[in-house]
Amino acid sequence: MKRMPQPIPYQGSKRNIAAQILSILPSDIDTLIEPFAGSATVSIRAAYAGAAQFFHFNDLNSPLMDLLNLIVNEPDRIATDYERLWHQQLGRERDFYDEVRVRFNAASRPDLLLYLLARCVKASVRYNTEGEFNQSPDNRRKGRRPQSMREDIFAVSRLLKGRTRITSCDFTSTIGILNPSTDLLYMDPPYQGTSGGRDSRYCSGVDLAALIGFLKELNARDAMFVLSYDGRKGSKAYGRMLPVELNLVHVIIEAGRSTQSTLLGRRDVTFESLYLSAPLIERIDSASEKIEKLARWKSSSMQLELTLE
Ligand SMILES: C[S@@+](CC[C@H](N)C(=O)[O-])C[C@H]1O[C@@H](n2cnc3c(N)ncnc32)[C@H](O)[C@@H]1O
Repeated sequence: MKRMPQPIPYQGSKRNIAAQILSILPSDIDTLIEPFAGSATVSIRAAYAGAAQFFHFNDLNSPLMDLLNLIVNEPDRIATDYERLWHQQLGRERDFYDEVRVRFNAASRPDLLLYLLARCVKASVRYNTEGEFNQSPDNRRKGRRPQSMREDIFAVSRLLKGRTRITSCDFTSTIGILNPSTDLLYMDPPYQGTSGGRDSRYCSGVDLAALIGFLKELNARDAMFVLSYDGRKGSKAYGRMLPVELNLVHVIIEAGRSTQSTLLGRRDVTFESLYLSAPLIERIDSASEKIEKLARWKSSSMQLELTLE
């Protein structure tokens, strides 16, 4: 498979497991809805594979959704703005980054956000208690070269323009646009291990009770959904299992070594939990075979827990 375009560098993106997630989705989704879209890596791959007709991206981080909107609908404008910022920094990269960060925190402009994400440490956004972007620059790098950024921006636009809607609301609002018989939700909220109230990694955290309430609502509407939620790195587990009464199939997949472990020179492998809704399982042909294949994607020692009754 060709390299997927990814113009928005975003820590926590599902880039490394997007293909695995896609391998179990039905191939005739009408609208793929991402209530926690981030950089929308799963949808970009789904669009490339022709797995859905339409896409709906939502994320509470509105500058991020403004950026995604420009990438999809005005690729030349955002690619040119990025190029201008990239060239302006040359020779005074550190000071320029700090100035852009101040300007972004005052005006939330999406082009400034793209520059900050391309230049900051590990592409990992950090917010202070005032909700201001406060991540430091990676001083060894100038950020992605403008031509390569432009190519990825245009590649994403070609895939998504004319069939994508973008909103910036709380995740619960996406139920309003759902057609349960044809649509599928892919949800990737901040993880339990990193949230529980405010999360400095994102501009908001997600309360577990609110998420469970939302999943119950989706179940009541027989919705097809996939939820990425928590996992474990090496022997360290993050978060609790979701309640059995949600009637979900829980699959644990291997996601490779985490960026953090690689940077620290450790060999810890990251595992990610996926929860699949019962209507999704009913819909996919030979579900158990596909799920087993997914769980064995990289290793034969995968754990597969079926909580479907
Ligand atoms: C793990 S990231 C999603 C990453 C995404 N799958 C990707 O590939 O880039 C979680 C996202 O949830 C968003 N978020 C946090 N709280 C939210 C809420 N209450 N409603 C909607 N989005 C929220 C964050 O801004 C963040 O972008």
